[in-house]
Amino acid sequence: MEYLRFCLLVSCWMKLGSSILSANAPQTPAVIPKDKLLVLTVATEETDGFHRFMQTAHYFNYTVKVLGMGEPWKGGDVGRSIGGGQKVRLLKSTMEILADQEDLVILFVDSYDLIFAGGPEEILRKFLQANHKVVFAADGLIWPDKRLTDKYPSVRSGKRFLNSGGIIGYAPYINRIVSQWNLHDNDDDQLFYTKIYLDPSQRETLNMSLDHKCQIFQNLNGAVDEVLLKFGTDRVRVRNTMYDSLPVVVHGNGNTKIYLNYLGNYVPNAWNYEHGCGHCDDDFLDLSQLQEYPNVLVGVFIEQPTPFLPEFFQRLLALDYPKDKLKLFVHNNEVYHEKHIQRFWEENRNVFNSFKVVGPEENLSQGEARNMGMDLCRKDASCDYYFSIDSDVMLTNRQTVKLLIEQNRKIIGPLVARHSKLWSNFWGALSLDGYYARSEDYVDIVQRKRVGVWNIPFMAHVYLIKGSVLRNELKERNYFVLEKLDPDMALCRNAREMTSHREKDSPSPESFHMLRPPKGVFMYLTNRHDFGRLISTASYNISHYNNDLWQIFENPVDWKEKYIHQNYTQIFTENYLEEPCPDVFWFPVFSEKACDEIVEEMEHYGSWSGGKHEDTRIAGGYETVPTDDIHMKQIGFDKEWLHFIREFISPVTLKVFSGYYTKAYAVMNFVVKYTPGRQAYLRPHHDSSTFTINIALNNKNADFLGGGCRFHRYNCSIESPRKGWSFMHPGRLTHLHEGLPTTNGTRYIAVSFIDP
Ligand SMILES: *[C@@H]1O[C@H](CO)[C@@H](O)[C@H](O)[C@H]1NC(C)=O
Ligand SMILES: *[C@@H]1O[C@H](CO)[C@@H](O)[C@H](O)[C@H]1NC(C)=O
Ligand SMILES: *[C@@H]1O[C@H](CO)[C@@H](O)[C@H](O)[C@H]1NC(C)=O
Ligand SMILES: *[C@@H]1O[C@H](CO)[C@@H](O)[C@H](O)[C@H]1NC(C)=O
Ligand SMILES: *[C@@H]1O[C@H](CO)[C@@H](O)[C@H](O)[C@H]1NC(C)=O
Ligand SMILES: *[C@@H]1O[C@H](CO)[C@@H](O)[C@H](O)[C@H]1NC(C)=O
Ligand SMILES: *[C@@H]1O[C@H](CO)[C@@H](O)[C@H](O)[C@H]1NC(C)=O
Repeated sequence: MEYLRFCLLVSCWMKLGSSILSANAPQTPAVIPKDKLLVLTVATEETDGFHRFMQTAHYFNYTVKVLGMGEPWKGGDVGRSIGGGQKVRLLKSTMEILADQEDLVILFVDSYDLIFAGGPEEILRKFLQANHKVVFAADGLIWPDKRLTDKYPSVRSGKRFLNSGGIIGYAPYINRIVSQWNLHDNDDDQLFYTKIYLDPSQRETLNMSLDHKCQIFQNLNGAVDEVLLKFGTDRVRVRNTMYDSLPVVVHGNGNTKIYLNYLGNYVPNAWNYEHGCGHCDDDFLDLSQLQEYPNVLVGVFIEQPTPFLPEFFQRLLALDYPKDKLKLFVHNNEVYHEKHIQRFWEENRNVFNSFKVVGPEENLSQGEARNMGMDLCRKDASCDYYFSIDSDVMLTNRQTVKLLIEQNRKIIGPLVARHSKLWSNFWGALSLDGYYARSEDYVDIVQRKRVGVWNIPFMAHVYLIKGSVLRNELKERNYFVLEKLDPDMALCRNAREMTSHREKDSPSPESFHMLRPPKGVFMYLTNRHDFGRLISTASYNISHYNNDLWQIFENPVDWKEKYIHQNYTQIFTENYLEEPCPDVFWFPVFSEKACDEIVEEMEHYGSWSGGKHEDTRIAGGYETVPTDDIHMKQIGFDKEWLHFIREFISPVTLKVFSGYYTKAYAVMNFVVKYTPGRQAYLRPHHDSSTFTINIALNNKNADFLGGGCRFHRYNCSIESPRKGWSFMHPGRLTHLHEGLPTTNGTRYIAVSFIDP
């Protein structure tokens, strides 16, 4: 609707032409031509916010003049205390030049925390409708002098108080206001304008008004609940639901910068449903065009026992980036992981440009370690980027570092989330009192239903920072040390104390330190690609030998990737299985690692039964066909083992014994060891099961000689078991079988009697 009206107005004006316009009195034109609008703003630095402001201004073709660029800022700390007088001084000297341009309309706005949601034609039309010579933004909150409340004219509905973040008016009138300025740069601009406005005679002669119902100006302070995004086909706007208006200028004043950043992720053309991301490639840095790849310092943080750490390091190694451009800094806080790091270091120390490890003996706090990593890049002028990654981030995308560099932002992180959970590495919003809040788009971003590069308030676990930013905006050290009462960290601490009120999907500040952008720097999260996932480090019990085996519940995706045979899924897609004897099915199920780790785990436990008939582990205490074995239950692996059967064996059962739905229940789950010195074979027997699985855990000829299995009824033997492959055969009736002698070395198999 809004666009329609706007188009009608424009075409109407074009048809009628300027002769009709000039026939009207210049005092009250029907339409003000858009070249009569001049936007003035004060900015002493080109902050990220300033660039965003200019981007929206250019999009709508505003003519903008920037005052004060390069001047030191002397206007005080606007937002926390009074100040801003410098803005009035600069405006005053500019207006002296423009004062006699009677038909020139001046729009004076802030720029660091402000975006345009509409164009010049619309703002001029609304200004005309307001029917005053000067219109100020309005605010529901009075600032800086509450005692002035009663002096304000009352309003029946709308916002009552003046806000100086937005002013629109005819040049001579603006000039008459600001020419009254004779205060200091750090005096308060809003108070200055307020006093003029509250003087009834000035209010009348200067024909001033406030934009009570946010037709033009939307200040977000105290008004966050009033506004919503309104998605159009080409543009996104902000709608004020209280006044049903579509403000043109949106100002994140006060404590609403984060909310403005959220709106700025969409308005006016940053992202919409039809076209997706509007500015994602604006600053694209094409690495292939560079002579040399930039130097990256990779900071790795192992702050708690972490499942799948060897796999984490393999993924780091697999990154598609020249290794001589990577320096590695590893902080390991866990004695348990020293063996993993040692192994990786021995194999790869010469692969990277440098490789430094700080171990648990240094007794560094997490904050100190993170500061140390950042500092290494900060102090090294050749460090182009700092890439910080925690050990619980599984980067499945080998291009991650390249993709982040090419995005060319000061600080950017890749989205990573727990598999099929809403738990991720960023916060999309912060409640006004500084606690976690779920932004309206959080779920869509995590699930990649909205894809883009998002300006966000907090992130953790993995991010890339430009070295130049560490040496400038982030040059303050000790960014991560909590004990100093840095307000950012106080905020994190608040958040930590509020954990009981936090939502389940928010990352926990207790387990890591979140990165918050320094003042004036935007921090981005990209979900334009699938980068990887976060694994869970919760309830990681390191009392076993190969602890990742126990992760089947907590981290099922990583468990499957590590322990299930590469060709397992082909059983279902390509009928990748064999039937070497009648009703004896043979299929791949375990990876090499699974086999090795289970054997290691059993040997580490070491209490083999010895193959005796007396067996206190089973009901009745007597085993007729004893093997030399260890039960899964003895190593505390029975729950995990049964889950493995449910997840990976049941589907095969259903495929080969169609119509039979296994309960996937088993009491007897064990690893058998055959070796000539102890027990070398097993005499013919039936199993007390409906069906049995028998998984070979090592290699014939390499690890042992002999072995295999013979089924009597069919006069059929399988003499070359394959490591990681399982047999599946009926148990108690048709398949009388025996274990053939192992003649040298040691043979291991894992066996379950299923549905006894
Ligand atoms: C801005 O100007 C350009 C070039 O004149 C034009 O193509 C574009 O449509 C204008 N944008 C808007 C939002 O009017
Ligand atoms: C303010 O200016 C408008 C025209 O811009 C005029 O119509 C209106 O009467 C003026 N109001 C006062 C109080 O002078
Ligand atoms: C490690 O540091 C903590 C706190 O800084 C301290 O309480 C502890 O005694 C230190 N331990 C060792 C072994 O130095
Ligand atoms: C870890 O596992 C061991 C052995 O199974 C068990 O005794 C211990 O209670 C477990 N610890 C935790 C914290 O679950
Ligand atoms: C999986 O099957 C392919 C052929 O289909 C084979 O080349 C590959 O070695 C198999 N993988 C393993 C781990 O056996
Ligand atoms: C069993 O098969 C072997 C060859 O595989 C054969 O020599 C033998 O005679 C068979 N025994 C019976 C009883 O059929
Ligand atoms: C068993 O294997 C080892 C090593 O391969 C070899 O030295 C030994 O002679 C073998 N023993 C028998 C009985 O084959």
